[in-house]
Amino acid sequence: MSAATGAVTDALRELHTSYAGADGGELAGYIPQLALADPGAFGLALISMDGHRYSAGDADVPFTVQSVSKPFVYALALSLLGLDEVSRWVNAEPSGEAFNAISLEHGTGRPSNAMVNAGAIVATALIPDTPVAPRFGRILDCLSRFAGRALDVDEEVYASEAATGDRNRALAYLIRSTGPLPVDPVAAVETYFRQCAVRVTVLDLAAMAATLAHGGVNPLNGERVVSEPVAAQVLTVMATCGMYDASGDWLLRVGLPAKSGVSGGVIAAGPARFGLAAYSPPLDRTGTSVRGRLAIGTLSDRLGLHLMRNPALPGSTVTLVTTADDLPAVPAGERARRQRVAVAAAQGALDFTAAERVLYALDEAGAGRTGAVVLDLVRVTDIDTVARAMLRGGLARLAADGRRTAVADPDGRLREPGDDTGAARSFASREEAVAWCTATASG
Ligand code: DON
Repeated sequence: MSAATGAVTDALRELHTSYAGADGGELAGYIPQLALADPGAFGLALISMDGHRYSAGDADVPFTVQSVSKPFVYALALSLLGLDEVSRWVNAEPSGEAFNAISLEHGTGRPSNAMVNAGAIVATALIPDTPVAPRFGRILDCLSRFAGRALDVDEEVYASEAATGDRNRALAYLIRSTGPLPVDPVAAVETYFRQCAVRVTVLDLAAMAATLAHGGVNPLNGERVVSEPVAAQVLTVMATCGMYDASGDWLLRVGLPAKSGVSGGVIAAGPARFGLAAYSPPLDRTGTSVRGRLAIGTLSDRLGLHLMRNPALPGSTVTLVTTADDLPAVPAGERARRQRVAVAAAQGALDFTAAERVLYALDEAGAGRTGAVVLDLVRVTDIDTVARAMLRGGLARLAADGRRTAVADPDGRLREPGDDTGAARSFASREEAVAWCTATASG
C-alpha cells in the first residue's frame, strides 16, 4: 500500500475501529424488510476528485438507498426543468421537521424542500413519464450514472414498503388536495418507493456524493451526470435541509452537505474535495445512522473538513514581487532601465481570491507605481473566467495609466476567444516580456 493510500485508509479504519462498538439506535421498523438488517454491519468509504477509492469495513455489503436517493432525483428534476420551474412545486426552505412530517407551505401546499418525503415525492412526480422513457427508468439510469455502475432494485424491500407505506400515500393525497400539481403525486409514490429500494454499497454512495462534489462529473469515469450549477444547487439544499430537523446542528458541528437514509446510509460531500459515505443500520431519532454520524463528524473534525473552516492558504498564489533588475542574469548596462520594470509572478489555479492577490501584488510591484509591469503566468495551471476578467481588467487599468504591460503567458490563459492579444502584450517567457518592457523603459 502506498503512503497516500495508507494514510486515508488508516483514517477510515481507525474510525471504523473506534465506532464499531458504538451502541444505541434502532433499526427502521416501519418498513418490515429493513428491520431484518444486520445491526452490526458498518462500512465507510471516501472517493477523491481524482477517483481514488478508499474504504474500511463492510464496503461491499448491499443495502437500499432510501432517502439518500432524494438529492439525486432532485438533481434530475433540476436538470430537466431548471431551478425556477422546480421551485414552483418544491420550495428550498428547511422544515425543521421529521422526514415524514406534513411539511407543506400554508396556502399553496408546496412542500418545504426536496429532502423531506413530501418534497421528494413531488420531485419524483416532476420527472417526465413517457412510453419511450418511463419515469422510473430515467431515475434508475440517473442514480446509476451518479454511482458509475448499473444499479438494480431490491424487490423485497420495495414490496415491503409498498405494502406498508400508507403514510407516504396519505402525504401524496394531501399534496394533491392542496394545490394544482403538474403531475399526480399519488401515482408517483409507487415510483418513489422503487427509487428508495435501489440497491447500493457504501462505495456507490461515496461515488454519488463525489460526483456532486466534483461539479456533476463522476470522478470514477469522467462522465458528466449533471451540470455544475445543478450540482451546486443540490449540495446547497443538502446543506440546509439534508438532515431534516437535525440539519442546523449537523451543519454547525460537521459542516458538510449531507443526506441520511433509513436503511443506515449517510453521504457527505466536501465540495471540490471528496465524497464520503457511511453505512450502519441503527438509527437515531432523526433517522440518521448513529455510527455514520459519529464517523463522519469525527473525520470532519480531525481532518478540518468543515466548510466554514477552510481559509485559503495565504501566499500560495503570488510567488514573486520584484523589479526586473533583481532577476538573475541582468545584461550589463541594463540595470537602471530594469529597475523601472515591475515583475509579479503567480502559480497554480487562479480564481477570484487568487486574482485579487495577484492584482494587489501588481499594484505593489515597482517603485512609485510607475514604469512597466510584467505579469508572469508561466507556472499558472488554470484561470477561471472570473479571474481572467479581473486580471485583464487590472492590466487594462495599468495600461490606461500609461504603464507598459506585458504578460508571460505561454499557454494563452489570459486570452479570450477572438482576442489573440489579450489585455497586455503576451510573450512565451518572462525574459522576453521583461526584455520588451526594458527596451522602452527610460532611465
Ligand atoms: O419514505 C420513506 O419512509 C423511506 N422510503 C425513506 C425515508 C428515509 O430514508 C428517511 N431518512 N432518514
